[in-house]
Amino acid sequence: MSKLDIRPLHADLGARITGVNLRTDLDDATVAQIRMTVDDYAFLVFPNQEMDDAAQLSLTRRFGEPEPSHVAKGEGKLEYFGTIGNVQPDGTVLGNTHKKTIFLTGNNMWHSDASFKETPAFLSIMCAYETPAEGGATLFASTRSTFSRLSDDRKDELDPLIVIHDYVYSRSKVAPDAVSPQLAATLPPVRHKLVRRNPRTGARNLFIGSHAKAIEGWSDAKSRALLDELVEETVGDEHVYAHRWQPGEVVFWDNRCLIHRGEGYDADKYRRYMRQTRTRGDGPTLGE
Ligand SMILES: [Fe+2]
Repeated sequence: MSKLDIRPLHADLGARITGVNLRTDLDDATVAQIRMTVDDYAFLVFPNQEMDDAAQLSLTRRFGEPEPSHVAKGEGKLEYFGTIGNVQPDGTVLGNTHKKTIFLTGNNMWHSDASFKETPAFLSIMCAYETPAEGGATLFASTRSTFSRLSDDRKDELDPLIVIHDYVYSRSKVAPDAVSPQLAATLPPVRHKLVRRNPRTGARNLFIGSHAKAIEGWSDAKSRALLDELVEETVGDEHVYAHRWQPGEVVFWDNRCLIHRGEGYDADKYRRYMRQTRTRGDGPTLGE
């Protein structure tokens, strides 16, 4: 078993982990230890790893069932990787005005990855290969921390609510025609618990972000006001951890209890190449 060196990054979330090689050291005890560290810190960065897609897919399988990309699936393909960045498979670069670059700006809104699925994502795993010299940070905030700061009355009020997450709704905010009818048909709106619980620790958190469209049974205006207010309460400056990516990093984050957003970068000036996989959650949140 590896001896993990764990250094917290921020009061609300995050740890930097050294003492483990993610290609060679993944015995069951180390995986179990990292898995518990995810429950405690929600965001983990492992610097100076040597990865490629094959190693990343093996790593992903050690932590769960890899989740197919919804975009590829909408096109009838099975693909576990998404590229975050502008570098294409042939090494060329897409600039700021390319429609794929604009589509990816949807990631600049606070969100939880794939929260629009009936079984939403658990972990996102990102391997960074090329990173811009300026800009391009990803900002993270903990909805567990937000929930813990609420009054007991407020917790009781929010606990039974159901929230509707909808991919077509969130993507229509950045690129109205970006979601094809074929893709939209595969991603109908889904119902989730607004308040989720960590199955191991019992800690509660909010399940919100850009895909959250409405509270079931509430008017659009009242829903919007609550959902916007909860995001605002989550992302106050003192609660945000900004991750500035370095090549060689592997990052895990827990989509059950974090929201994140890209800060954006100049795709005309810089190259960025990061590969993302995700693991599927345990099941629909309504059954948690
Ligand atoms: Fe994301």
